[in-house]
Amino acid sequence: MTQGLTTVAYIAAGVLFILSLGGLSSQESARRGNLYGALGILLAIGATAARMSGGYPLLAGVVVVGALIGATLAARVAMTSMPELVAILHSFVGAAAVLVGFATYLAPGQALTGVEHTIHQVEIFIGVFVGAVTFTGSVIAFAKLRGSLSGSPLLLPGRHVINLLIVAASGYLLWRFLAVSEPLGLMSLGIMTALACVLGVHLVVAIGGADMPVVVSMLNSYSGWAAAAAGFMLSNDLLIITGALVGSSGAILSYIMCRAMNRSIASVIFGGFGAAEGAAPTHGAAPVGEPTPLTADEVAELMAEARSVVIVPGYGMAVAQAQHPLFEVTKLLRARGAEVRFAIHPVAGRLPGHMNVLLAEAKVPYDIVLEMDEINADFPETDVVLVIGANDIVNPGALSDAASPIYGMPVLEVWRSKVTVVMKRSMASGYAGVDNPLFYMEDTRMLFGDAKKNVDAILTALRERGRAAEAA
Ligand code: TAP
Repeated sequence: MTQGLTTVAYIAAGVLFILSLGGLSSQESARRGNLYGALGILLAIGATAARMSGGYPLLAGVVVVGALIGATLAARVAMTSMPELVAILHSFVGAAAVLVGFATYLAPGQALTGVEHTIHQVEIFIGVFVGAVTFTGSVIAFAKLRGSLSGSPLLLPGRHVINLLIVAASGYLLWRFLAVSEPLGLMSLGIMTALACVLGVHLVVAIGGADMPVVVSMLNSYSGWAAAAAGFMLSNDLLIITGALVGSSGAILSYIMCRAMNRSIASVIFGGFGAAEGAAPTHGAAPVGEPTPLTADEVAELMAEARSVVIVPGYGMAVAQAQHPLFEVTKLLRARGAEVRFAIHPVAGRLPGHMNVLLAEAKVPYDIVLEMDEINADFPETDVVLVIGANDIVNPGALSDAASPIYGMPVLEVWRSKVTVVMKRSMASGYAGVDNPLFYMEDTRMLFGDAKKNVDAILTALRERGRAAEAA
């Protein structure tokens, strides 16, 4: 394939990636966006392979093995494990950037001199640094999301000084690296890689439970920059474009998530910013009072009589896979003339857009799925709010308890409705590990048990009521 044709194929793939990002920005066009992305990747792999002058059996071997592993993982992964999968995939990009950096340093493909040589060395050094931070940071995020590591922030005394020292030491190592010719800089490159790995671990262990959504999107952004750096090292324009697209869209997503959680990017990146050094996170004031339990039949009765219902799904709905019977309940209530809407918090679940994906899977129409800002003002006019497996995103303490770790995060103000029914298995806290005063409020009722079983029971009770009404 000629250089000109390769460039045309790369530009076409770049355009497909941009169309893909555009498509993924709304649910209606998300499928089309995915298709554009897949076509772009196919074109990119085809054009890159066509440029090669040999080594096809090896390429075919790794592509087939990689595709098989990827397809098996994607087919098997439960929706609740998706965030871990995304985190570990980011770590692969980081590891790839580190390996490409070392390989490019040890076996440079092109003979550069003067300033060009220095710029190329700096690209290698920065690429390996970003890659190593992304690699270990993503592995820690994977362990935290999986629950293998505690979600609480680990705040070492003098942690900002430790981070600054690592960055300063890496700057010094860069200077040493540039001062010697290959392969003598290998030692500096190796020490910096080890330090960057420590920095990645340290940055992510310091970030607390409720801030994890931003970490996932920040690591997504880092993985893009690591890929772009690998593109510079390999002089591959498409990798630079793709990396920059992922890097900047991840950065924009992080900004949106920070705004949704009322956090500054700096406070999230530098983890536990403003908390006392070495102190464990505070858990806010313990709520007082007794929760009021209800049965599924009683909840069905409340819902059957309501004119307006808002359903707030959270991580527990994903765990229970209750979205399908929930939509059956919605259809029944709508058929009886009630207004039923879904309220989505920006960090509900464990992935950006987690709840939207589950509701779309159950075929809930998009026009009754509203974002937090669109629905928060409507709660005072709502008869019944059904909170299904959600906790942190409906915690009133986030607005009123300055000692709470989630203080300042905007939440769905469900307690302003006439009655709030909370479905969960116990009084346990959510991801952020904070008690929820909502459960003890006068107008709150608790429906304990697995969300799927309880929604099934509500559905059965509603159908029986419907049959009884028809028979009467
Ligand atoms: P959480 O606050 O984690 O609450 C989920 C609740 O679901 C739990 O309290 C749990 O209570 C209940 N639950 C679990 N399994 C259940 C089942 N089978 N049936 C019924 N209930 C079940 O979830 P949320 O309200 O969606 O808030 C999200 C949290 O995750 C926020 O703190 C957010 O910052 C964090 N986070 C979000 C993301 C993204 S990107 N969205 C990423 C990482 C972290 P029981 O155990 O008592 O049943």
